[in-house]
Amino acid sequence: MPRSARQVQLVEYPVGEVTPDHFVTVEVEVPEPQAGQVLVRNTFTSVDPGMRLRLRESGPAGYFNSFSLGAAMDDIWAVGEVIESRADGFEAGDAVWHAKGWRDYAIVTAGEPALAGIATLARIDTSVAPAEKYLGPLGAMGVTAYAGLLDAAQLREGDVVWISAAAGAVGSLAAQIAKLRGHRVIGSAGSEDKVRYVLDELGLDAAFDYRDRPVVDRVQEAAPDGIDVYFDNVGGDHLEAALATLRPWGRVALCGAISEYESTGPTPGPSNLFQATANNLTLRGFRGSAYRHRLPDVVRELGGWLAEGRLRYRETIIDGLERAPEALMRVLSGNTTGKALVRIS
Ligand SMILES: NC(=O)c1ccc[n+]([C@@H]2O[C@H](COP(=O)([O-])OP(=O)(O)OC[C@H]3O[C@@H](n4cnc5c(N)ncnc54)[C@H](OP(=O)(O)O)[C@@H]3O)[C@@H](O)[C@H]2O)c1
Repeated sequence: MPRSARQVQLVEYPVGEVTPDHFVTVEVEVPEPQAGQVLVRNTFTSVDPGMRLRLRESGPAGYFNSFSLGAAMDDIWAVGEVIESRADGFEAGDAVWHAKGWRDYAIVTAGEPALAGIATLARIDTSVAPAEKYLGPLGAMGVTAYAGLLDAAQLREGDVVWISAAAGAVGSLAAQIAKLRGHRVIGSAGSEDKVRYVLDELGLDAAFDYRDRPVVDRVQEAAPDGIDVYFDNVGGDHLEAALATLRPWGRVALCGAISEYESTGPTPGPSNLFQATANNLTLRGFRGSAYRHRLPDVVRELGGWLAEGRLRYRETIIDGLERAPEALMRVLSGNTTGKALVRIS
């Protein structure tokens, strides 16, 4: 059993852009697992844009807790291998997921709800896919994309769909789920390379670089007759453009608002919200964790498509636990494609 472990801690709440100076990697002692606990050697840990909202002394009400200063950062998804178990149902050698990421070894209590219940310690089946895929399509990213489209946006036959941040972890899955179900899908992303990726590799029908020209112009060129569903990963001008483009009875899945996460003051709401009334639109916020009952469907459906090679999924892997803050900066600035992961060992 290792005597010491490394973990990333937050030393200061960033104002504006995150930098590596806001974090430190420290050595801590590894306690013995108590009854009901396991010791896990983490192999991959997740890096998510929503973490930026938790790097504040007080984050959005109802969301995950803010990270504490000078302490292990809890409620971050990770996968690894059980080294020692004192919990029923877990044995050394088991591949598991849990939510004590951003450290190399973790003591995890079985049954303790984590990440609103979606990342409570559980064994994962690595015969379906490698462990890290459970931090992507077979875990929160998959369930968020799937539930966002089917439950929040109530995807219907014939819908024309726009997905923002379409080259990202959630966006690339949502775009392909809609495509594989036979929809016309438009994607937006922040570079020509990403636009090429979503067109050529993900097979979307149209795509544009939102940095080029006003988003509303670009989306209306791609969908001259309007859209029925907008999967919003971005907020701000993207949401405003969607409100201006949605057809009557259109639906928006409010998944995230990354354009606002690093802002230092209050962000304005869409100036054209009345379009929702005018066109009988539905805007529904949702969190993947609320749809964790969808996980078996996601593993079956997305796992099947992955195995058949019909679902494409890129990862941007950053090596080394101490580089987790750099990985987060890259996610927030658009310098990753697909799911951003830190490989710990
Ligand atoms: N509701 C939920 O349960 C849930 C769960 C997971 C994630 N989310 C949300 O879903 C969204 C995507 O998350 P993800 O994990 O899949 O991340 P991701 O898309 O892999 O990475 C974030 C991407 O956002 C884009 N971006 C950054 N700043 C932007 C801006 N100002 N305007 C437009 N695009 C910008 C960047 O891509 P470009 O290069 O294309 O700009 C970046 O690569 C985030 O808003 C996240 O908070 C929600």
